[in-house]
Amino acid sequence: MYKGYKEVGRVLIDEDELASMTDRLAQEINRDYSGKEVVFVGLLKGSFIFMSDLIKKITIPCSVDFMIASSYGGRTFSSGEVNIKKDIGQDIKGKNVIIVEDIIDSGITLSAVLAVLEGRQPESLKLCSLLSKPARRQKEVRIDYLGTEIPDEFVIGYGLDYDEKYRNIPFVGILDPKYIHD
Ligand code: IMP
Ligand code: MG
Repeated sequence: MYKGYKEVGRVLIDEDELASMTDRLAQEINRDYSGKEVVFVGLLKGSFIFMSDLIKKITIPCSVDFMIASSYGGRTFSSGEVNIKKDIGQDIKGKNVIIVEDIIDSGITLSAVLAVLEGRQPESLKLCSLLSKPARRQKEVRIDYLGTEIPDEFVIGYGLDYDEKYRNIPFVGILDPKYIHD
């Protein structure tokens, strides 16, 4: 229980820490892309709160787009094995693209999405993720802009869900295992 959220076993990253994390990431991006324009591609749904906080701190010219993608389980994949339920609404050929994700876990979804977007010949393609669980990685992915690494625990809040719930919690917390069901 934390601040009335009974499903939160313990707070992992509080609201102040999240704010300084998005400050730092936005500063890095503003610096690296100075004089350029960026297309931010958020992966729904998990990235929506992180994306909105990050984008408010971006000062270079940019546009925002969203994608819904899922991979087909743990099978080895080619780029054809990612299911794109909603695609972005623009041609990214020759553009500077930054994918915005909530958490990199196995890395399977992200590797597949990267392969698909790379095939569209952007000028550059980078990855910005709020969280990473390195202990769970099955596919190596390079995270160009990372909030922080976390231990192998199931987290909720700040856009992250368990069974579609808890995205509204304003900080990142560890889900109390007694709320995990089949
Ligand atoms: P993966 O890297 O392909 O395994 O999948 C990453 C996706 O799994 C993320 O975008 C999240 O939607 C989800 N995910 C992984 N770990 C967690 C967690 O601890 N809490 C909530 N969602 C998670
Ligand atoms: Mg999710």
